[in-house]
Amino acid sequence: MPRFGILTSGGDCPGLNAVIRSAHIRVDREYGGTLVGFRNGWRGVLDDDAVEITEEITHGIAGMGGTILGTSRTNPAEGTGALGRVRRTLEDNALDGLIAVGGEGSLSAAHALRGAGVKVVGVPKTIDNDLNGTDYSFGFDTAVQIATDAMDRLLTTGASHARCMIAEVMGRNSGWIALHAGIATGAHAVLIPEHPVSVDQIVEWVESARNRGQAPLVVVAEGFPLEGDGIFHPRGTEASGRPRLGGIGERLAPLLEKRTGIETRATTLGHIQRGGTPTAYDRVLGARFGAAAVDAAVAGEWGKMVALSGERIVTADLSEAIGSIKRISAERYDRAAVCFG
Ligand code: F6P
Repeated sequence: MPRFGILTSGGDCPGLNAVIRSAHIRVDREYGGTLVGFRNGWRGVLDDDAVEITEEITHGIAGMGGTILGTSRTNPAEGTGALGRVRRTLEDNALDGLIAVGGEGSLSAAHALRGAGVKVVGVPKTIDNDLNGTDYSFGFDTAVQIATDAMDRLLTTGASHARCMIAEVMGRNSGWIALHAGIATGAHAVLIPEHPVSVDQIVEWVESARNRGQAPLVVVAEGFPLEGDGIFHPRGTEASGRPRLGGIGERLAPLLEKRTGIETRATTLGHIQRGGTPTAYDRVLGARFGAAAVDAAVAGEWGKMVALSGERIVTADLSEAIGSIKRISAERYDRAAVCFG
C-alpha cells in the first residue's frame, strides 16, 4: 500500500486545501494507501512534524482558503544536515515519497532534493501564475477575481469624485494578475514588471481618459519598476534577502497627481488577494492536481510535477518550472495596451 507525505510550502494560495483533500481521497480510495501531512512546509519535514491525513481532517475543506497544513518559506536544501533530516523523516514515517506543493522557490528545493536522491513529485502553486511548465496554477483565478471585484468598486468611487484611482496588485516578477484584472475592468493603464513604461506614458494614458470624461483607473503590479526609482520596497527585505514588496501605488499617486492635476488615490490590495474562498475553477484545478500528483507518485515519476497543458493534466520535469519565470510576452502586453488611455 503506498504511503506518501504531502506539504504545502511558500506563500499560501487559494486551492491548497482542495489539493490536500483530493490527494487524500485518491491515495485512500484508488490505491488503499495513506497520506501523511507535514506542518508548515519543508520545516515540518525537517522537524518531522507530521499528521496522518484522514477524512475527518479533509471533510469540507475544498472551499476553505489558506492551507490546513500551514506553510513556511523554509528551504530544505539549505543548512547543515538538512538533507539527512529529510531522509530520516521519510524513513521514520515509512514513506514511499513526498508530494511538494509550492511555487518556484519550493519546487527548486524539491528539484535539488531529487538530485540528492529524495523521491519527490511537485504540484505548482502561485497566485502570480508566473511558473513555467504549466499553463495555469491554481490561486491565480481567485486572485484575479478578487482584484477585479475591488477595481469595479474603485471605478465607481473614482467616477463619483472625478479622481484617478490606482489599484496595486501582487505580482513580484510578473504582471499576470494586473493584466487580467485590468482587462476585466477596462483599466486605463496596466503597469507590469516585464514591460516598464515611462512616467510620461502613464501620464498620457491618464490624461487621455480624463479628457474623455472618464475617471482614470491605473493598475500597477507590486514589482513594477518606476522610471528612475527601480522596484519599490520600503519595508526592507526578508531574512532570505528577498525584498518585501508593496507600496508602488502610493509612490506613484503623488507623481501622477502633480503631473496631471487630477486628485489621485492609491489602494494596495495586498494579501486580500491570497486569502479566503477559492473560486470554483481553483478548487477544480487543485483537485485535479492533487489526484494527478498521487498517480505520478504511484507511477514513480519522481522529479516531475503535475501541470496543466490546455485542458489536460500532464506531468513535466521539475526543471521546467525553475530558474526562469513565465513572463507576459511583449506581443500580449502590446495588444492589451491598445485599450489603455
Ligand atoms: O508569490 C506570491 C506572492 O503573493 C507575491 O506576489 C508576493 O510578492 C509575495 O508572495 C508576498 O509574500 P509574503 O506574504 O511572504 O510577504
